[in-house]
Amino acid sequence: MYWPILGAAGWLGRLVLALGCLIATPAWTWAGDAVTPQSTGSIQTTSETKNETAQGNLIGHGGPVKSIAIDAERRLGLTGSFDYAMMAWDLTGDLPKEAQRFDENDGAVNAVAFVPRSRLALSAGDDGALSLWDLDDARLVHRFKGHTAKVVDIAVSDDGTWAVTASWDRSARLWNLQDRKPGPVLAGHKGPVNAVAFSADGAHAFTASYDGAIRMFKADTGDFVRPVFRHGWGINALKRLPNDARLVFGALNGTAAVIDIDSGDTVAELGTSQRPILALAVTRQPGLVAVGGGDGRVRVFRLGDFESIEEYQNPYGPAWGLAFAPGGTALYIAGLDDFVARWSITPRDPFEPIDSPFPRRFQVSEDSDDPVDKGRVHYARKCSVCHTLKQDGKNRAGPTLHGLFGRKIASLPGYPYSEALKKLDIVWTEETVSRLFELGPENFTPGSKMPLQKMTDKSQRDALIAYLKTTEAAQNGRTAPEHSKGANE
Ligand code: HEC
Repeated sequence: MYWPILGAAGWLGRLVLALGCLIATPAWTWAGDAVTPQSTGSIQTTSETKNETAQGNLIGHGGPVKSIAIDAERRLGLTGSFDYAMMAWDLTGDLPKEAQRFDENDGAVNAVAFVPRSRLALSAGDDGALSLWDLDDARLVHRFKGHTAKVVDIAVSDDGTWAVTASWDRSARLWNLQDRKPGPVLAGHKGPVNAVAFSADGAHAFTASYDGAIRMFKADTGDFVRPVFRHGWGINALKRLPNDARLVFGALNGTAAVIDIDSGDTVAELGTSQRPILALAVTRQPGLVAVGGGDGRVRVFRLGDFESIEEYQNPYGPAWGLAFAPGGTALYIAGLDDFVARWSITPRDPFEPIDSPFPRRFQVSEDSDDPVDKGRVHYARKCSVCHTLKQDGKNRAGPTLHGLFGRKIASLPGYPYSEALKKLDIVWTEETVSRLFELGPENFTPGSKMPLQKMTDKSQRDALIAYLKTTEAAQNGRTAPEHSKGANE
């Protein structure tokens, strides 16, 4: 049993799947869960931001954060976001510091990893590539290409020689990081491959898939060795336990369990959940494993006896990425917010959930008849994850749309446009913006790194443009202050 592969048009769909329909449903609720935000018919704006500055949170991305990795020895962090960027964090001081930004990705960054024994790091994502970066100067060292769909997980062998990537093209691929050459392709799964891991000695690679199987391959040749485990549901997450012949996995049906690689036996079940398990983290010192779900529930277990020691609940969204802080005293939790929350395990923080801005800018509901109000909702849901309307030009995945009308395409200084966009000769007007979403970026601006999305209903496009025009007028101090209220930026 596995989920259908989603087409290229489904970037929002994928987000929606991962969110449990938070974005697409007007009166959005967590099915069966604690939070049922009231749908009032008025715009719900994001005003609560105070905890964004809470001690230790990683603040700097321009979109939801999908993954995080921590190097405990070097006290360094890596995060990958919907904003197409990877960021590196210096965790040596009392407060985290932004160390580097890695901007040249052509899609959302779904996975990040350190390369042991080097000053290199890896990112991979919706662009289907694996990118190797220099941590010191943020230079792109190499880009490995071969996957034909997005990449969602990376693992690196302990000696830093091999990386393995999991892709929705139903394969995993090995890449030699030393000679920068592609290695074997690990095939055979009947669904998207969601997660990968290496054995402690680096001789074997493990792959986990929506088809419910965990498979074992020889790392040097790519030869299939044997199936390790079969689960009745799709597997989303996989990690190897430190120095151990055991794997921990998390599945679509809420199961998280530790299995023995040799026998395939289940060693321990790590509780149960009603919602998919989306993220796992393991730390050796002290030995802990964390399990995070689509319902925002995060549980911490002790390695060894697998006793549950702490539990944490963020009611406002899923845990997409987890990593222990150096020393294992805190856990970083990545998800729908533009920042990564740091949750203190010891000493235990109060039970209150993260005070995240909620509803977030893209979680709005509205039933007004006013086209500008309708346009604001379209903007919030379909554009605000990737664009701001602010002049200061803090870009998200895409450039700011401030001052869009009358602007030549790809002309904003400082934004890393694709070569394809730079070659086009278009000026943004009501008409060209409308055409962009009537035909879709792929057709109107071929080669663009803006994902394919269409708005086939002309009245929706008109509403969106009417809204964009009023925010611009208001920001230029001309008219329509009324509509500028609560702009979803
Ligand atoms: C998933 C991210 C994403 C979403 C969602 C998105 N965009 Fe974009 N957009 C981008 C990226 C990335 C670029 C730059 C494309 C390039 O360089 O090839 C871009 C470029 C653009 C441009 C050209 C800007 C310029 O300076 O030439 C316009 C106009 C635009 N987007 C409008 C929109 C609107 C309106 C929406 C909502 C209906 C939207 N985008 C939704 C990522 C996104």
